[in-house]
Amino acid sequence: MNPLYTICYISKVHSDLSDQQIEDLFSYSSQSNNSTGIKGILLSTMGNFFQVLEGTKDQVISLYNVIKEDARHHDIYEVIHRPAVKAVFTNYNSKFNIVKSIDDLDKIKTYLDAMPFDSTSEKLSRLLNPFLLMEEL
Ligand SMILES: Cc1cc2nc3c(=O)[nH]c(=O)nc-3n(C[C@H](O)[C@H](O)[C@H](O)COP(=O)(O)O)c2cc1C
Repeated sequence: MNPLYTICYISKVHSDLSDQQIEDLFSYSSQSNNSTGIKGILLSTMGNFFQVLEGTKDQVISLYNVIKEDARHHDIYEVIHRPAVKAVFTNYNSKFNIVKSIDDLDKIKTYLDAMPFDSTSEKLSRLLNPFLLMEEL
C-alpha cells in the first residue's frame, strides 16, 4: 500500500536567483509534477518559496529529498510532513498549481475553507493567510 502523503515547507530564495530563473523553475516543476501526478502548489513572494506537495508517500518523499538539496533555496522550514488523511489538492484541479496572483491564491483559500473539516486543509488555509496580505505575488 502506498498512502497519500503531504509535505509543506517555506524556504528562502537564493539571493542570486533572477526572476527568469524562478520562472524556469516554475515551468520545470509544473511540467514534471504534471507528468508524475504530484499535486499541490508552489509560489514565490518577497524572497520566499512556499510549496505543498501531495502524492503517494514514496513519490513525495523522494521528490522532497531532491528539492531539499537544491541550491536555489535555503533555510527550509517544514510545516507539514505527514500522511494525508484525505486528498486536499488532488481534488482541486487536475494539475500542479503555480500560484502567480492573489486572485489564484484567494480561490485556493476559498476551496480549502469549503472542505469538510480536515486538519491538513485547515492548517494550509491558515498558512496562506500572510500571503493573502501581500499586495501582489
Ligand atoms: C523551491 C523549489 C521547488 C521545486 N519544486 C519541484 C517540484 O515540485 N517538482 C520537481 O520535479 N522539481 C522541483 N524542483 C527542482 C528539483 O529540486 C530538481 O532540480 C529537479 O527535480 C531535477 O532533479 P534531477 O536533476 O535530480 O532530476 C524544485 C526546486 C526548488 C528550488
